[in-house]
Amino acid sequence: MQKVVRIAGDGIGVEITEAVSTILEQAEAHIQWIDAKAGLGAFEELGSPLPDETVAAIREHKVLLKGPLTTPVGTGFRSVNVALRQHFDLYANIRPARTLPSIDSPFKQVDMVIFRENTQGLYIGKEHWVNAEKTHAESVAVVTEQASERIIRAAFEYALTHDRQKVSLVHKANILKFTTGLFLEVGRRVAKDYNSIEFEDLIVDNMAMQMVMRPERFDVVVTTNLFGDILSDLASGLVGGLGVTGAANMGDEQAMFEAVHGSAPDIAGQGKANPMALLFSSLMLLEHIGQKNIANNISKAIYKTLVEKKVYCTPDIGGKGTTQTFTQAVIDNL
Ligand code: NAI
Ligand code: MG
Repeated sequence: MQKVVRIAGDGIGVEITEAVSTILEQAEAHIQWIDAKAGLGAFEELGSPLPDETVAAIREHKVLLKGPLTTPVGTGFRSVNVALRQHFDLYANIRPARTLPSIDSPFKQVDMVIFRENTQGLYIGKEHWVNAEKTHAESVAVVTEQASERIIRAAFEYALTHDRQKVSLVHKANILKFTTGLFLEVGRRVAKDYNSIEFEDLIVDNMAMQMVMRPERFDVVVTTNLFGDILSDLASGLVGGLGVTGAANMGDEQAMFEAVHGSAPDIAGQGKANPMALLFSSLMLLEHIGQKNIANNISKAIYKTLVEKKVYCTPDIGGKGTTQTFTQAVIDNL
């Protein structure tokens, strides 16, 4: 039994986490859940959105399945998601996007995995006002050789171990010559260690166009934080949106698997929540803990459900069912 920390989260988090846990149990995943709290619920109950016990449990057990957490707008606490990424140095945000059967999309044969650098770039919020009138602002981007190398190596290692043919590095080195220029330079150097993997680089605006014109040409993609944020949502959009794509945040010690969507308070408690995004994240988790055969079985059951029993799916993907009918259909197809 592998111990895995489980945070159900806020809003629809409870429903989708229950659905995913049930499917994993029925698929005979060897997991012992360690339940922990975080988010708005934890804040209201325990006075902290990220209690010390939760942090200690993640540090000890190293693997986390996390439902969406509500971050209050304006006042209140800062994002727990960001805090977790920083605390455990989860530098690799990994977002697969793969065409699914029966999901409405003009794009076919998409099968790409985006590696987003999670700790640096323009995204870190190093901003300040230049003048007292606040009519002039500046933002600083940080890129280091060390952080670039570890994410780029992670992308190449993934390509090697997942039978992928190509790594595409995305940058804007023609304009941002120092920061994204460094990222590109490190990429070109690291690529020499992986002769069996094809390497190419693309400028980010061209990449955006290519992704909607010929998305099938991409395999593994690696890029800096802000570009990765935008392009990974774009990639999700190619295959049906945030409700059907999973994500992993990996560090050298800990790994967090989460749905990319939020807590959807508008549909919470109504049985409309699609657990598929968290389910795909849990398949990445199973692979991470050495239970890939079980992940494959569940994956087949999801595909079968989409093809044969789409009516049992949730309304967001054109079904007529509920969280529960989808969950049962996947279990029946196992
Ligand atoms: P959201 O992703 O929660 O919802 C956007 C829209 O998508 C809503 O109409 C919602 O009903 C729908 N939706 C989302 N997930 C769905 C699912 N699994 N099945 C069916 N429909 C789904 O984004 P929103 O409304 O901007 O944020 C709500 C809360 O979630 C906020 O407090 C925000 O901070 C938090 N949030 C948390 C994230 C995380 O924990 N990783 C990520 C994004 C937002
Ligand atoms: Mg984003």
